Amino acid sequence: MAGHGTMPGMDGDGAVGSDAVSTSVTGLSASRPTEDVRLLNGSVFALKAEVVAHAFDGKNPTRAFAYNGQVPGPTLRVVQGASVTVDFTNALPYATSVHWHGIRLAQRFDGVIPDSQPAVAPNDSFRYELVFPDEGLYWYHPHLREDLQQDLGLAGAIVVKGDPGGGSRPQERVLMLDDAVLDARGAMRFQESAADHALMGRYGNTLLVNGRPSWSDAFPGGERVRLLLVDAANARPFRLTFTGATSVDLVALDGGFLAAPTPVVDAVVLSPGERATVDVVLPASGSVEIAHDAAGVRRVLGDLRVGSSGDPGGPSAAPAAPHERARASLAAAEAARAQAIATTWELDLKMPHAMGMGTDAEPIEWDVPESMGPQNMQMTARDLTWVIRDTGTGAENEDINATYALGSFARFRIRNLDDSMHPMQHPIHLHGQRFVVEDTDGVANPTPAWKDTVLVPAGSEVTIAVEMANPGTWVFHCHIAEHLESGMMGRFTVA
Ligand code: C2O
Ligand code: CU
Repeated sequence: MAGHGTMPGMDGDGAVGSDAVSTSVTGLSASRPTEDVRLLNGSVFALKAEVVAHAFDGKNPTRAFAYNGQVPGPTLRVVQGASVTVDFTNALPYATSVHWHGIRLAQRFDGVIPDSQPAVAPNDSFRYELVFPDEGLYWYHPHLREDLQQDLGLAGAIVVKGDPGGGSRPQERVLMLDDAVLDARGAMRFQESAADHALMGRYGNTLLVNGRPSWSDAFPGGERVRLLLVDAANARPFRLTFTGATSVDLVALDGGFLAAPTPVVDAVVLSPGERATVDVVLPASGSVEIAHDAAGVRRVLGDLRVGSSGDPGGPSAAPAAPHERARASLAAAEAARAQAIATTWELDLKMPHAMGMGTDAEPIEWDVPESMGPQNMQMTARDLTWVIRDTGTGAENEDINATYALGSFARFRIRNLDDSMHPMQHPIHLHGQRFVVEDTDGVANPTPAWKDTVLVPAGSEVTIAVEMANPGTWVFHCHIAEHLESGMMGRFTVA
């Protein structure tokens, strides 16, 4: 292996090396449950990143990071068009920042270090001026060592409503989907100097919903319950099934509503950074089991139980207005299809020392094969570089920065090479703009919607139409935290 020593904290007796991130809970307050925070136009909201004790395994409190003491952080509920000030304070022992994933705001409040702002040092603060031009589901997380900070608990949902008064709506529940590598004491182990698990990303041994190993809630029979799903994992794609439901409709993806609610035939696939909004209609009795069901392994995440109280409160059909609004705005992206492809990005891997790993490329790696676990765990950006390459210029990662005209659409093709040293899926996220996925491998997207992150399976080619509506120089990157740490990021400019 390339030059680094034994993994800190792996010797089993509690002794850790100097590079190990502390797992001590001495003197820490316990995490609090996630709160809903309603932010009105002109609101000022204080947000603090801090260290808490939180039991990710439901039993053993371990050292975790929280926003306002909460894991996940508070759910921010705002009305479309609102302007909100967030006074952010960093009470962590590490520098951090807050990125408002998917929100088309001003670049200087986008949280990217160093593009948008200097890192917020421990005990320092930063004032974010946020705007919310689009209705939909978004989220916030740090943009520095996400592999560590986000995994330790720094993530929260943002729900932007298109109509303030709104009529009758289904009850909503936010489910932040995540996973963690927990040791026997329920602790996570990280290195301060670098992200490990750099090859495939840090796939957890424990699946989490809202920071816990399982989730459950009760509703009246027949109720339509709206689930706002966020994949906040470092690397894991989820394949979600809802067993026992009367019906399941896909309502929205990332920030955008579909033209109409669309029945989920099989499963909902979400990769890191992506969101999905799903309406589940409950049976008259019994329950609906939510599971991650992939590659022949079914792992239960939680359930919606039919409670004793009768009479479903909400509407029986999904409210139509958000879909009508979406149809109008999606038409412009549709028209862009006549244009030529502006840019093609290739996704690749450079590894100086061949590791002799098989590359029997599955389109999606649902988990780390056991045989590769130790190798994957030990690797850092010192051992490999994940690459995005602009095939037009040959530029890679940091050297990519093409300019697109403000007010135009640009079509991009993203090609995930199937003959790299380790082909696997990459969720590619563009900051500051929104796009529509046109097709994957030439097959038209059955559920177009405004998105900001797209899953590109190994060996696949995805075409997106990006609306260049927000001026500035923005980053785009793979949302597997360890791939981002291993180079997989470039820039583009809208001017
Ligand atoms: Cu959610 Cu640049 O990230
Ligand atoms: Cu990646």
